[in-house]
Amino acid sequence: MKSSWNIVLVGFMGSGKTTVGREVARRLGWSFVDTDDEIVRQAGKSIAAIFADEGEEHFRCLETRVVRKLAAMNETVIATGGGVVKNPDNLRLLAATGVLFWLQLEPEEIHRRISGQRITRPLLKVPDPLGEIRNLLRERESYYAQADFTVNANGTVDAVASMIIAEMNGWRGR
Ligand code: S3P
Repeated sequence: MKSSWNIVLVGFMGSGKTTVGREVARRLGWSFVDTDDEIVRQAGKSIAAIFADEGEEHFRCLETRVVRKLAAMNETVIATGGGVVKNPDNLRLLAATGVLFWLQLEPEEIHRRISGQRITRPLLKVPDPLGEIRNLLRERESYYAQADFTVNANGTVDAVASMIIAEMNGWRGR
């Protein structure tokens, strides 16, 4: 039995974790937090600046520190950065207090969505972003698949949020 309740959204960049997470939190009357926002707030600079100045390894340390803090929350929807699953400690911490949902999306759709966004993802600032998305997805798929539920993220924000809430209600009724 989990000691407290959170909903944790994992999945690749651009899969809608933040937008869907906000909607789920709004409907449930829960709090919403985003690990990236929290890192930016604590570091006092953007993700891109952290990667550029201190490198990915430092970013991952900050990320784990934030995960530790957020996993201690209750009735909170936690949207995570796409790489959070790479560290087994993060997954363990998040799974101890939350139900994990993988927002799954095809690489082509991820690429389409990310190309239309102004926010720059340092890991995708490469000559072949679609190829890189495919590589990273291949590397991470088995980690994302450790989530309690896999949700097809290729729908409207409303539809994806409804699926998560329905699964969550079923899970609580178990
Ligand atoms: C990353 C995903 C980003 C952010 C950072 C690294 C990743 O978060 O944490 O750029 O490794 O996939 P989003 O998934 O919210 O874009």
